[in-house]
Amino acid sequence: MLIREGEALMDLPEPPQTFRGPAKRRKIFYNPAMANNRSICVLMCKALGVRNMLDGFAATGVRGIRAMKEAGVQVVFNDFETAAFFAIKKNLELNGLSADVLNKDFCELKTGAELCDVDPFGTPAPFTEKGIELSDRFLAVTATDTAVLFGSNVKKCYERYGVRVRRVDWNKELGARVLCHFVAEEAKLLGTGIRPIFVYAEDHYLRGYFELCDLEEETTDRDGIGPLWSGRLKDAEVLKKALEASIKREYPGKKAVEGLLSRASEEIDVVGYHDLDSLASRLRAAEPRVQELVERLIDQGFEASRTIFSPKGIKTDAPTNEVESCFLSASAEAKGL
Ligand SMILES: C[S@@+](CC[C@H](N)C(=O)[O-])C[C@H]1O[C@@H](n2cnc3c(N)ncnc32)[C@H](O)[C@@H]1O
Repeated sequence: MLIREGEALMDLPEPPQTFRGPAKRRKIFYNPAMANNRSICVLMCKALGVRNMLDGFAATGVRGIRAMKEAGVQVVFNDFETAAFFAIKKNLELNGLSADVLNKDFCELKTGAELCDVDPFGTPAPFTEKGIELSDRFLAVTATDTAVLFGSNVKKCYERYGVRVRRVDWNKELGARVLCHFVAEEAKLLGTGIRPIFVYAEDHYLRGYFELCDLEEETTDRDGIGPLWSGRLKDAEVLKKALEASIKREYPGKKAVEGLLSRASEEIDVVGYHDLDSLASRLRAAEPRVQELVERLIDQGFEASRTIFSPKGIKTDAPTNEVESCFLSASAEAKGL
């Protein structure tokens, strides 16, 4: 059947079964729930001025085909499934494009590119070092093992990513910082550093864009969790450029993507966030609006913002007792006390 995603036309052997969350693994894999992930990939290619890309886990080729058609990127495709290899060739033809298509295990690839995209099933851990080796400048990584990264499986997280975790209110950001730490450690093995350009969580996955550079790794140990990336998770200037590129276009998911990019660009750079539900139950008080609490903290002279990782999360450099007192006064005012 023919489907359209962005400007790409794809011939799929069967219709997609799911439109949210992870899709069933198939020889020719396509998950419509990842359309925003791929739209953001197109925008990041534009914002970063990417000229060539290795779509290392290409499946139907939809990601690379969109990058070619929508951002003018030259793409090399690869997938170790033979059925996927032929599907990519067919889909390229369908879109009037020509590109190199490889049918190899990612770890055996020799040709790199400016942006190397690592999008395997589940964890990217076994492929990250190779991804960095194949990248001339940028690395993009998708991880769908969110139970491990978000702190639910402590043992696996340590084995896979080398980080001690536990359950915290700010679990999605924890996952992002675990992933960054891991990518930084893998880069170190190859004598380089990383700079996160955009690391975010959506739906059932975490996604990170990184630039390889000489930067020293920034780590922290916090409340028995660590080592954790403690530096920035984004480059606000790049996100603003991605947002500008989005505003000029029409595509499904545009509103959600633009909301994510603009919230991310405004987010303050501190580790962790306070969750409104947890504050409310701990303080036995009604929840004020998130924005109200953010504004109160700013009025008190602190830095504060919402976070892309939770609609009820508040990031601030204020100490916990100040957050609690602002919460209680905002809560009392909301109740008219
Ligand atoms: C999650 S899908 C990729 C989805 C695709 N990037 C997209 O946006 O639609 C993972 C793909 O990686 C391929 N794959 C898994 N392990 C691989 C490996 N070691 N080398 C090359 N391809 C691999 C699978 O056959 C599958 O098509």
